[in-house]
Amino acid sequence: YPHASSVDDGRLSIGGCDAADLAREFGTPLYAVAEDDLRARAREFRAAMGEGEVIFASKAFPCTAVLRVFEEEGLSVDVASGGELALATSAGFSGDRIILHGNAKSARELEAAVDAGARIVVDNFDDIDKLDALGKPANVLIRVTPGVVADTHAAILTGHAGSKFGFSLAQAPLAIERLTNAPWADLHGLHMHIGSQLFDLEPWRLAVEAIATLGDFPAYDLGGGLAVAYTDRRPPSVTEFVGNMVASANELLGTGKRLSIEPGRALTASAGVTLYTVESVKDVDLPDGNVRFVAVDGGMSDNLRPMLYDAPYQADLVDRVGAAGTPCTVVGKHCESGDVLIRETALHEPKPGDVLVTPVTGAYVYAMANNYNGVPRPPVVFCKDGEARLVVRRETFEDLHGRDV
Ligand code: LLP
Repeated sequence: YPHASSVDDGRLSIGGCDAADLAREFGTPLYAVAEDDLRARAREFRAAMGEGEVIFASKAFPCTAVLRVFEEEGLSVDVASGGELALATSAGFSGDRIILHGNAKSARELEAAVDAGARIVVDNFDDIDKLDALGKPANVLIRVTPGVVADTHAAILTGHAGSKFGFSLAQAPLAIERLTNAPWADLHGLHMHIGSQLFDLEPWRLAVEAIATLGDFPAYDLGGGLAVAYTDRRPPSVTEFVGNMVASANELLGTGKRLSIEPGRALTASAGVTLYTVESVKDVDLPDGNVRFVAVDGGMSDNLRPMLYDAPYQADLVDRVGAAGTPCTVVGKHCESGDVLIRETALHEPKPGDVLVTPVTGAYVYAMANNYNGVPRPPVVFCKDGEARLVVRRETFEDLHGRDV
């Protein structure tokens, strides 16, 4: 749960707001965010980075209110498309604090970013050709695939040889040569991002070692990827992670470099929870035991992570947190059997009408929400000092046909 949350006599509060009251006031499913936690994480990263730059990977929670908090906290922002660029700009980020990524950037996306004064992370030779054709002065970094394999789900691994992202170590020298000689390009340095939800610090060190062979640059962006605790498995702390990165960089790249890191998940995941209403509880007897399905009013439309990455979550009933429970399978309302939010979690006598909460849902959850089965996407509410502030409204049925022509 967010640090800015508490459990009193089994009742959960987020940012001082009673979770059951939130569900009643705003309806479910509901994304509730402890604003103080977003700020605390941002400050933790900034303190640990010292002079270095902390760049929020906005894909983790691409929402104006979240972006504004991080803008106020002095972070920069990573955008991975024209849409994320537009969102970051309208949330108040100036171009010098925006950095554009992507392995398939369009000429339009590149031009919009260059015009905004954003840095461009060049991923491939086609990016260089498009920027050449544009011919406008641009600040660039080169994304290098360091060829390390980190221990995470294959879908979110990016730094291995054979990744679709960046230049291989073999191709990078040619990219460096082209950008060094291009009259429009101001080449700051190199970028790497080896994957996401990583617990082990060693692959970063190996990756820094790999990119250090490519020359000496003023700036290095070391990417994101720090894991968060969805279950009992604990990742390194922010301080340990950043300390390790900076130490590797100082040792292998030389001191006095402009360093940046790009966390997404570790900034937002634990600040957010999702509230659902239990709609049905069904016991199914099987030869090898009983399964209790607890079906909630959301599912793969509001959280795709369990389906895409086998991501583990836990759950509680908001008015009996900590009460001893029996094993349940939490499923969504969608028309397929893969719509399982949690394979097994202990719940205390769940029944229809109960409000169920899944913690650590502040990253890549709102971001990947969709309208499958015509389910409107949930609202986002910021909770702070007992005040709940709606920052994104719930979609309506009208929204579902609002783009019809
Ligand atoms: N920088 C780059 C270039 C990235 O591609 C990413 C994430 C990040 C930074 C931030 O990584 P983080 O600190 O959040 O691990 N949808 C997946 C995660 C995809 C991550 C994509 N790139 C999930 O839900 O687990």
